[in-house]
Amino acid sequence: MSSHVSSTAALKERYRTNAPADDGPWNETLGVLASHRSVRAYLPTPVTDEVLSRLVLAAQSASSSSNLQAWTVVAVRDTERKARLSKLAGNQKHIEQAPLFLVWLADVSRLKRVAAAKGRALEGADYVESFLVAIIDTALAAQNAATAAESLGLGAVYIGGLRNHPEQVAAELHLPPGVFAVFGMCVGYPDPSRPAEVKPRLPQGAVLHFDHYDPTEEAAAIAAYDAAQGGFRAEQKMSSQAWSDQSCDRWADAKALRGRDRMKDALHALGFLLR
Ligand SMILES: Cc1cc2nc3c(=O)[nH]c(=O)nc-3n(C[C@H](O)[C@H](O)[C@H](O)COP(=O)(O)O)c2cc1C
Repeated sequence: MSSHVSSTAALKERYRTNAPADDGPWNETLGVLASHRSVRAYLPTPVTDEVLSRLVLAAQSASSSSNLQAWTVVAVRDTERKARLSKLAGNQKHIEQAPLFLVWLADVSRLKRVAAAKGRALEGADYVESFLVAIIDTALAAQNAATAAESLGLGAVYIGGLRNHPEQVAAELHLPPGVFAVFGMCVGYPDPSRPAEVKPRLPQGAVLHFDHYDPTEEAAAIAAYDAAQGGFRAEQKMSSQAWSDQSCDRWADAKALRGRDRMKDALHALGFLLR
């Protein structure tokens, strides 16, 4: 991807008309991060084990709460398994098309096995806090892998749709109790005939507060963002719905969660007691 993008170009793409001052430091890492876009169309070129190993290196280099490393990743390349996972995730065709599909797992089972082998108790593993630790570790690791992939010219997209049917996904991947598929990630070389664009984000005034929480600038920032996002959606020939409306729709009621409103029951079934 465009790792050598200039700060000016990157800010314009990311914020459109709402960019902050372009007067801070800049380097290649920031260029890679700022150029992120979800990629949903890939060339058939395989992602080799050597490349995968680098992605896992990046993932394992993320910080980890108490260094517990409470995550695991399953690399899926098998066509039929990808097709079954695609179906479980709401028929997202990019899962089938991606040469590599990574499933990122919050995993308290490994430490439970370690404790069992030592005859040690591990009561703490059954608390909400430990579940959060595993989710956070998983997300940090996955994002490092995504950035590494982008720095190598690959494209990726997260697949939260994998949480539509947590128990079936667990059965498909032979997950033991205490392991939960947080999201999938399609990885592949972007198809240049179907390029993805950088999606604008909220102005910094909406997300950056100083010294204390202060949403004073929020309403103006969101109005400006709705306008900027409108321009992006028109260019992409997407429906003209404003970000603020679209986002309220996404969490409007339990039905809007598309089956994920039963997540607490699913997690209990997967062996997370969530005390
Ligand atoms: C945890 C998570 C789950 C996501 N799930 C899906 C998904 O199931 N399918 C999909 O096509 N995109 C999915 N996305 C991608 C988002 O739609 C995308 O990141 C967002 O629209 C911003 O676009 P950008 O990544 O191109 O900047 C997911 C992103 C995240 C972070």
